Amino acid sequence: MHAPVPVIDNSKLIYILKYKRYLITAALPYANGPVHIGHLAGCYLPADIYSRYQRAQKRDIKFICGSDEHGVPITIRAMKEGITPQDVVDKYNKVIKDSFADMGISFDIFSRTSNQVHHDTSQAFFLKLYNDGLFEERESEQYYDEEKDIFLADRYIVGTCPNCSNPNAYGDQCEKCGSTLSPEQLINPRSALSNAPLVKKLTKHWYFPLNKYEPWLKEWITEGKKDEWKPNVYGQCKSWLDSGLQPRAMTRDSLWGVPVPLPNANGKVLYVWFDAPIGYISATKELTANWSDYWCGEDTKLVHFIGKDNIVFHCIIFPAMLKAHGGFVLPDNVPANEFLNIEGEKVSTSRNWAVWIDEYLKDFPDQQDALRYVLCANAPESKDNDFTWKDFQDRVNNELAAVLGNFVNRAFVLMHKLCGGRMPQFHAVAANEADRNLALEMKAAKERVEAAIEGYKFREGLAEVIDLARKGNKYLQDNAPWSLAKTPELQAANQARIDNCIHLCLQLTANLAILINPFLPFTAKKMCYMMKVVDRMLEWENAGKSDLLKTNYPLRAPEILFRKIEDAEVAAQVEKLHNNLAMAISASLNITTTTTPETPAPAADPALAAVADQKATITYEDFAKIDLRVGTIVKAEKVAKADKLLKLELDMGTEIRTVVSGIALDFTPDEIIGKQVTVVANLAPRKMKGIESNGMILMAQNKDGRLIFASPLETADNGAEVK
Ligand code: MF3
Ligand code: ZN
Repeated sequence: MHAPVPVIDNSKLIYILKYKRYLITAALPYANGPVHIGHLAGCYLPADIYSRYQRAQKRDIKFICGSDEHGVPITIRAMKEGITPQDVVDKYNKVIKDSFADMGISFDIFSRTSNQVHHDTSQAFFLKLYNDGLFEERESEQYYDEEKDIFLADRYIVGTCPNCSNPNAYGDQCEKCGSTLSPEQLINPRSALSNAPLVKKLTKHWYFPLNKYEPWLKEWITEGKKDEWKPNVYGQCKSWLDSGLQPRAMTRDSLWGVPVPLPNANGKVLYVWFDAPIGYISATKELTANWSDYWCGEDTKLVHFIGKDNIVFHCIIFPAMLKAHGGFVLPDNVPANEFLNIEGEKVSTSRNWAVWIDEYLKDFPDQQDALRYVLCANAPESKDNDFTWKDFQDRVNNELAAVLGNFVNRAFVLMHKLCGGRMPQFHAVAANEADRNLALEMKAAKERVEAAIEGYKFREGLAEVIDLARKGNKYLQDNAPWSLAKTPELQAANQARIDNCIHLCLQLTANLAILINPFLPFTAKKMCYMMKVVDRMLEWENAGKSDLLKTNYPLRAPEILFRKIEDAEVAAQVEKLHNNLAMAISASLNITTTTTPETPAPAADPALAAVADQKATITYEDFAKIDLRVGTIVKAEKVAKADKLLKLELDMGTEIRTVVSGIALDFTPDEIIGKQVTVVANLAPRKMKGIESNGMILMAQNKDGRLIFASPLETADNGAEVK
């Protein structure tokens, strides 16, 4: 086996190691929902750019992904929807796979962890550690929901927060005061699934002694990776290591997952963060019989692309597992990105505050590269970043269309006008300084883009490509071939200069196609078509050359590479976000609508849309938990950037309360002042558009969807209890 040969690029102080093989992984997304632009920006797009670049370098790479199909969120989703976990993962594996394919994410395989090969691989991995005597067996008491017959993960335990008395704190965190909790700290813990009080039950699990790997991890990371890993990644690792590592349970009590391959382990499965990363290995096995060349050779460069919430698993736990198992290569780098917010707010799938890929592609068919461009140009590489539709429009119109698209278009139009539709020759005798400089710029751009991509600085790489196009525009403007051809006589006299200028612009177009290809592959393909060159021209070694296109052959008519994004499209997208949010909120409050994004819209004919289905019977005790009171609306105003929401102030007798309500489509603020409403007064507070809502007002929804005040007939005292 050969050790990697270090090559030092002194000019850039970039330390590039030459490897024989590249194993590039992108985090396996949970198969419990579709993917949104935050997923793309955080992980899949950078991984794809890197992979496409490596392929263009003709390196031996495998780009691995698949869906993560185990874990608690999937079982919960299945329970809620009344279907099996297998149904859930079958559905979303396909949705996710299709979204990625449509966006041009070029995985060599998109597998799934419910596959047999994965079950076999992860069980064998576990058994090896078990047989080596690595696991510690420990018995502990864990909360158990007797009604649903399951042990509960921390997130599914709710109770009263010991710090702020919020009655709906989670077993891992109180969202009201932000404190980190453990289920033991909750007062009156109950099940989030059944609401039943919890009992403690003894259970046995297998613990991986992470603590024993702490010295090794410290050396490997703090000595080996300090200057190589991104500061955000290194920083997180350092703080984990500094606070000391503990043994970690690698099994769970559940019926959904990879069964623990031991006798007497019924009802126990591998912890999802144990099996999922092994999924990278299983998927490679499924892809190629030579999988071990990639996973077990020292000359492989293993790179994990992930989002920042996955750092500890990929930088500490999985490497320790690989080390404990032995025989596997360790990650060379883990270039994790931060998060992408949308219009100033954190992405939230439960509030449907997200831009879903499948929906984007319905609204913007064939505009994959526009989105790829914006998500890369604005990628959260070193800090959280914001996606806004206005910025999307600005970047597409002012950078992509106005700089890159415009340059290519001008070069082609001028070639058809001034050079008879053919690729003109370059006349060395007529060459000038500007020509020579442009050729040098092509070479320099190649090196800069290359260094940026190798260093995981994709924003910088993309900016370099656009910058090269900008230089092309300037060159064209400075040389102004059209002014050399104002009359046929003038053109005849100047044809050599005109030819040189157009020739170089088209050679530059070929260079731009190569350099932009990892970022915007759909565009690169279109450019190749226009230039009538085969895909092989896009190989990276061709970049920097100014003789890529042969002379005298006819080229095609220009195509518009990027269309402009209109103001109305931006407005429609922003409105859609706010509508989605209001629908999600009202669906979760269960008043203003009976549809959720997962269920189909109601029938168009109102007569067919029956009165909402009756809900399941509840006990008197359930009902008695709801504190219903009368309040009078004393103030109402529209909520900025939310078409459906009104901010209400309610006189509750002893206090004025703020409630945000999704009724703005049915009522103007003025017409509801003074009305009395029934209020769910003990609903947990919830932030909507930055406003804390303390309760919910009850409204009736007619068959036609209209909301009606179902308020008391006579005026009641504010604060009166409704029984
Ligand atoms: N499913 C996890 C998430 O979406 C990522 C798993 S990555 C793997 O956060 F390494 F475990 F596969
Ligand atoms: Zn609290």
